[in-house]
Amino acid sequence: TTRTPLMAGNWKMNLDHLQAIAFTQKLAWALKDAKHDFDDVEVAIFPPYTDLRSVQTLVDADKLSLSYGAQDVSAHDSGAYTGEISGAFLSALACRYVILGHSERRTLHAETDEVVGSKVKAALKHGLVPVICVGETSEDLEKFGASAVPVAQLKAALEGVEGTPDLVVAYEPVWAIGSGQAATPEQAQTVAKALRDALEELLGESVAAATRILYGGSVKSDNIAGFMREPDVDGALIGGASLKVDEFSAIARFR
Ligand code: G3H
Repeated sequence: TTRTPLMAGNWKMNLDHLQAIAFTQKLAWALKDAKHDFDDVEVAIFPPYTDLRSVQTLVDADKLSLSYGAQDVSAHDSGAYTGEISGAFLSALACRYVILGHSERRTLHAETDEVVGSKVKAALKHGLVPVICVGETSEDLEKFGASAVPVAQLKAALEGVEGTPDLVVAYEPVWAIGSGQAATPEQAQTVAKALRDALEELLGESVAAATRILYGGSVKSDNIAGFMREPDVDGALIGGASLKVDEFSAIARFR
């Protein structure tokens, strides 16, 4: 495979901008000490919005190879949308990525597939790579099996998207998020393959072959290798373990 693995750390609502500077510096040192090859495995962090300027400044000043992005974006470009953040603002901070449709946004902020779809279009319009999160609940799993809901969510998120967009897809079974109960590598592979087939159907073979599909949900340094052995799993979206420098850098060095 020619896909560069991506290890994406979703900080969720943790670390203020001062803590973010200290943490990012420590992470960069840990990866440097371990002689991490960033061409071999890309490492990305997703801090809260208020940290992004600080992270940008640090990455620029120290010429760090870390990628970074936001955890959400507005569907709108600008205007009377109190509390929202435009994709244009994220681009101006040199964000590469934006996480969209995380299960916490879907459940706690009532984000529908339609909303996620409009945010995907906004992200692409502003030159950001959407990290589209999909995943089934345990009820979905019982009723429909593992792949049906994630595939339907992906199709909805990509409705009206054309051409050869740069995308990342993150498969996160809701029951595995923060639960300590990760999916098995085989389960992750089955759904990742179904998602890649859906990408091929929607956007063609070259987009399907180029798109990195991540697994997320209770990823740790001691289970990452199993996921990475699967042919359609190209990295991970990491929550809790991304807030521990040693754990996260060990995940990035899974080989
Ligand atoms: O975005 C990250 C996921 O929600 C996974 O979180 O690694 O704490 O289970 P977790």
